[in-house]
Amino acid sequence: MMLTLRTLAMLAVSILPGCQAAIDLLVHSSGGNATSPIAYGLMHEDINNSGDGGIYAELIRNRAFQGSEKFPSSLEAWTPFNGASALSLKKLCTPLSAALPYSLNVAPKSATTQQGKIGIVNSGFWGMDVRAEQKYSGSFYVKGGYEGHFTASLQSVITGEVFAAVKVEGVSSGETGGWVRREFTIVPGKTAGNSNNTFAITFDAAGVKNGSLNFNLISLFPPTYKNRPNGLRIDIAEALAELKPKFLRFPGGNMLEGDTLTTYWKWNETIGPLKDRPGMAGVWQYQLTTGLGLVEYMEWCDDMNLEPIVAVWDGLALDGNYVPQSQIGEVVQYALDELEFLTGDAATTKWGAVRASLGHPRPWKIKYVEIGNEDWLAGRPTAYDTYKQYRFQAFLTAFNDKYPNIQVIASPSVFDGMVIPAPGAGDYHPYLTPDKFVAAFDKFDNLSKQNLTLIGEAAATHPNGGIGWDGNLMANPWWGGSVGEAIFLIGAERNSEKVIGATYAPGLRNLNRWQWGMTLLQHAADPALTTRSTSWHVWRLLGSHVLTQTLPVTAQSGGIRPLYYVAGKSEGTHVFKAAVYNATQPVEISLRFEGMTAKGQTAALTVLRGPQDPYGVNDPFTQINVVNETTLAVAADEGGVFRFSLPHLSVAVLELAGN
Ligand SMILES: *[C@@H]1O[C@H](CO)[C@@H](O)[C@H](O)[C@H]1NC(C)=O
Ligand SMILES: *[C@@H]1O[C@H](CO)[C@@H](O)[C@H](O)[C@H]1NC(C)=O
Ligand SMILES: *[C@@H]1O[C@H](CO)[C@@H](O)[C@H](O)[C@H]1NC(C)=O
Ligand SMILES: *[C@@H]1O[C@H](CO)[C@@H](O)[C@H](O)[C@H]1NC(C)=O
Ligand SMILES: *[C@@H]1O[C@H](CO)[C@@H](O)[C@H](O)[C@H]1NC(C)=O
Ligand SMILES: *[C@@H]1O[C@H](CO)[C@@H](O)[C@H](O)[C@H]1NC(C)=O
Ligand SMILES: *[C@@H]1O[C@H](CO)[C@@H](O)[C@H](O)[C@H]1NC(C)=O
Ligand SMILES: *[C@@H]1O[C@H](CO)[C@@H](O)[C@H](O)[C@H]1NC(C)=O
Ligand SMILES: *[C@@H]1O[C@H](CO)[C@@H](O)[C@H](O)[C@H]1NC(C)=O
Repeated sequence: MMLTLRTLAMLAVSILPGCQAAIDLLVHSSGGNATSPIAYGLMHEDINNSGDGGIYAELIRNRAFQGSEKFPSSLEAWTPFNGASALSLKKLCTPLSAALPYSLNVAPKSATTQQGKIGIVNSGFWGMDVRAEQKYSGSFYVKGGYEGHFTASLQSVITGEVFAAVKVEGVSSGETGGWVRREFTIVPGKTAGNSNNTFAITFDAAGVKNGSLNFNLISLFPPTYKNRPNGLRIDIAEALAELKPKFLRFPGGNMLEGDTLTTYWKWNETIGPLKDRPGMAGVWQYQLTTGLGLVEYMEWCDDMNLEPIVAVWDGLALDGNYVPQSQIGEVVQYALDELEFLTGDAATTKWGAVRASLGHPRPWKIKYVEIGNEDWLAGRPTAYDTYKQYRFQAFLTAFNDKYPNIQVIASPSVFDGMVIPAPGAGDYHPYLTPDKFVAAFDKFDNLSKQNLTLIGEAAATHPNGGIGWDGNLMANPWWGGSVGEAIFLIGAERNSEKVIGATYAPGLRNLNRWQWGMTLLQHAADPALTTRSTSWHVWRLLGSHVLTQTLPVTAQSGGIRPLYYVAGKSEGTHVFKAAVYNATQPVEISLRFEGMTAKGQTAALTVLRGPQDPYGVNDPFTQINVVNETTLAVAADEGGVFRFSLPHLSVAVLELAGN
């Protein structure tokens, strides 16, 4: 085996004598800034089946044959139960609802096969997870006469083995003519060995009264996070909750804007019974069910204790078209209606009453509203000019009048060349190389407090020396990139009175359909593939030690680079966060907290170290976590000095109890 240059370089580093002088740091007991309790959070939009087929727990793909001009209704994911079944998409004169005009017609293929079992099979979002003793809640609508019973079942594609089957009542003669809803539960007796499974509804051709049956809104949910009906997939939601997030920015992202001025995310079409939701043409190459709609996003916030950052549509589409000044008032009113839906009194407001009718009589509290998404990008420079000239101001004025306690956030930041009128805040979305993240460590130092900023999306996307946006986007979050993010975040935390919070994006990636490698979590139908990325580990460590106050640090010797750090207080503890980048040998640190001088007092030091290769990733298919996390107790020397060392490309948090 030949030694590569890289391994030689590493050997050279590891045999250097540890003669470097320690960096001597003193954390002062006062003189810092109180910071807002919002810190690390989440951002979500339905990007490439991270909603449908991702965190939204529905197992049936194309459950209601929703379509649009861009993605016409189809039978995608559906196949006939056996050779004897004929399936067709029908637009009946009596559809299930105005929102769901298409349905699935099932007939025997020919007169000669009228005696057999016929039906429909759904392949799910590239498979389905089938687990013993779990309760799967299903339902469907059917139209037509049928004497007999339906069978709803889960089975293996590979072996044909049926894991569970239940009988569902047929359609009596009194019910024919209209659509009838059937509910059922399936509890498999056995766990499937893999996720190559399907869901089927079958019935006897002989019992069909009128040649065929029509089906729509065929749904099957496994147990959900906090048992919410129409809720979230448990393993994905739990992996996000482990990050201890404080806010959720939704519903986008590009999904909010839509491709054209008529296909934006219409909040009013994402609420109410599923049968009244038409879905929408997604901007990531597929039709969205909007089953994960406005109310479901709010329930997600409730269940994970997140502060919602509600992004409202502001009259910009991804094709660069924008609403003229003469019509912006209508768009503002549409957003005010959305806020009334969320926060209005159930008895005295129109939209508050609608919310109450959907099972949420108590108004939600909203502290943050963001006006649009990345208005500096689509249709620039003209569309961006309209944002600066009239679109943002129209929203800011209206929201300040009606909701003076809501912090309005502009979708660009001061770094995108916008002077944001008071009392607005901005939103900054860095997608950078690790070197550029490190170089941005002091990005916020000279920012004035008037330029309060959200970091509403961030991720290391390209390797150092990257050749441009489309050139060499990385296929996965990688350790060196994740450390770069950590240093940028530490820089933001030093200025956290100017930073509302920070979130990685996109947070979820479906292994079956993706382009962007960047993600906190990878997922597929099989929960065994749910994989926490290198960045997940970094954001979790930093995000689960929120500073409520920063404290000044003086370096008696050494300074910033290659060690980057911030110190502060957090609920009864002192916290020191640090990361090392571009060090030629481990960094020796001696750290003191003013006024806490007891010898022998112990602090908990958690260190994340990466693989030898800075390009190492957490691969769902090997399930090897390349991030090594260790926590150990460090005892203070004379004078309360904590001595420890941190290697190149590491991220650490030291926590000392006491105020
Ligand atoms: C507190 O805020 C002021 C003003 O923004 C800043 O100059 C100072 O560095 C901050 N102190 C700490 C410890 O972050
Ligand atoms: C039976 O089929 C005929 C012809 O398609 C239709 O007019 C009628 O409504 C159907 N009856 C039922 C009960 O579905
Ligand atoms: C099983 O599912 C996996 C993941 O979707 C897929 O790659 C594989 O081809 C499937 N195998 C069969 C036999 O269907
Ligand atoms: C939702 O609101 C938009 C904008 O006002 C409107 O065009 C659309 O018709 C509404 N949808 C429904 C179902 O009322
Ligand atoms: C890290 O070191 C490399 C190689 O010397 C250099 O090119 C790069 O600019 C450094 N990055 C930072 C952020 O210091
Ligand atoms: C911040 O301002 C100081 C003093 O004017 C200057 O030395 C420093 O380069 C500035 N930093 C950034 C990141 O702009
Ligand atoms: C921040 O906001 C003020 C007031 O809008 C502006 O004058 C200043 O240039 C902005 N920029 C920075 C970097 O603080
Ligand atoms: C989304 O999926 C489609 C189809 O696989 C792909 O063409 C597209 O590049 C993906 N986009 C993203 C952002 O992953
Ligand atoms: C993690 O790092 C510690 C400290 O360097 C080391 O003792 C341990 O063996 C490492 N564990 C793994 C799984 O690499």
